[in-house]
Amino acid sequence: MEYKLVLLLYLCGLTFEITNAAINRTFPATVKFGIATSTYQIEGAWNEDGKGENIWDHICHENPTYIVNKTNGDIACDSYHKYKEDVAMLKDLGVDFYRFSISWSRVIPGGIAGSPVNQLGIDYYKNLVQELVNNGIEPMVTMYVWDLPEILQDLGGWPNPELIDHFAYYARTLYEELGDSVKHWMTFNEPKQTCLGGYGDGNMAPGYTASGIADYQCSHMLLKAHAKAYHIYDEEFRAEQQGSVGIVIDTAWFEPASGSDEDKEAAERSLQFMFGWYTNPVVNGNYPQVMIDRVDERSATQGYAVSRLPKFTDEEIEYIKGTHDFVALNFYTANYAQWMEESDINDVGYYSDLNVNQFIDEDWEESASSWLRVVPWSLRKVVNWISKTYDNPEIFITESGFSDTGGLEDDRRINYHKEYLSNLLEAILDDGVNVTRYTAWSLMDNFEWTRGYSERFGLYSVDFEDPDRPRTPKASAAYYKQVIATRCLVDVCE
Ligand code: NOJ
Repeated sequence: MEYKLVLLLYLCGLTFEITNAAINRTFPATVKFGIATSTYQIEGAWNEDGKGENIWDHICHENPTYIVNKTNGDIACDSYHKYKEDVAMLKDLGVDFYRFSISWSRVIPGGIAGSPVNQLGIDYYKNLVQELVNNGIEPMVTMYVWDLPEILQDLGGWPNPELIDHFAYYARTLYEELGDSVKHWMTFNEPKQTCLGGYGDGNMAPGYTASGIADYQCSHMLLKAHAKAYHIYDEEFRAEQQGSVGIVIDTAWFEPASGSDEDKEAAERSLQFMFGWYTNPVVNGNYPQVMIDRVDERSATQGYAVSRLPKFTDEEIEYIKGTHDFVALNFYTANYAQWMEESDINDVGYYSDLNVNQFIDEDWEESASSWLRVVPWSLRKVVNWISKTYDNPEIFITESGFSDTGGLEDDRRINYHKEYLSNLLEAILDDGVNVTRYTAWSLMDNFEWTRGYSERFGLYSVDFEDPDRPRTPKASAAYYKQVIATRCLVDVCE
């Protein structure tokens, strides 16, 4: 066991930085364990029971080569028909909660505010929630994981301000229909992927490439939509339903490439551009100052009469400020950040506005995903940074996980969760960071967006060749089950 080795080295008088010093300590009762999925990645039934088309249905069908092996989510894990089996798996794991998402186009196929609610669509989620509650599993719902109704994309997608009201109507519908049982709501999942991916670098549907303009416009509307959904809950539902609302933000950790002030600033700037882009508005009301300053200045030099980064009015700042009951973090990996010469001033784009050299250490363990290296210590650092930067909020880890290409003996996934959780434990016990939830990504192998089924994150394997989509537990499912049951990462805890 690693900790025995550490003890031995310690007794020999050796001291050095280790990654798993907390490995044999017990998680406090305040920490809950869960697991996550999202609608397009698992549900299938893309056109059943009145569901409308969304932007992922659309791009997969119209432009199949956009996805590895030309696959799509038409059937995916078929959870629309197999949700009871999914809940049985969750029950067997012993999770406290299940984080899943709802398909807007299944619930409101017409997309726009005021259009009819699809009863069969809402019934699916009511049945899922009921099944969870019956099995003692808390439902934790994300309203939007990247699957915009196609009709709203035809109206311009997220840069169109009218989407704020359309989203608000959708959010209110969910509170009305499901709020009796759902007590944790998340409006958006990883807005940077929606906006930079969808409208900036084109790596996500709808696949536009207008970085430095459309990604900022998208984010501006999305933040206002989030704030409106939060206020609707506050004003119309909170007193009766007694739940909470947040937004899920992803970031990598950025480690300064050296001890120089320039590299430290480059790391902080990277965190502000990635995590602060969304978190600073919902906590403090506006974009991070470094982002405002840099985009304003570059826009002016480039001859724009107004900044490419849209401005919130004073009233909007007040309206957006404080619209979170917890900080929700999706976290997987780290990068080094290094100061670099100012890029060509004529470049218009998010990464030129950021202007940091970001790179990885080739020694960090690889996964099946090009962007994901295993860097366990970075989880401890990032939650400490969030705690310090945003005045010690309650933090939920709403996703963390490891990808491979398949197989049931997934020791590397076990090791990932063990090492990341060990660092989280240190953050909680030794640093006093207020993390109360850990969510493994993902319950089962599923449709990994443009990577199709080529990257697998599940604790359960799914046979996508078999029309019944049978699920089989991997070794990591047994490990996670044991962690949840014992609140301990190794066989014996203190
Ligand atoms: C982030 C997303 O929320 C999820 O949809 C995705 O599958 C995982 N991370 C892994 O990339």
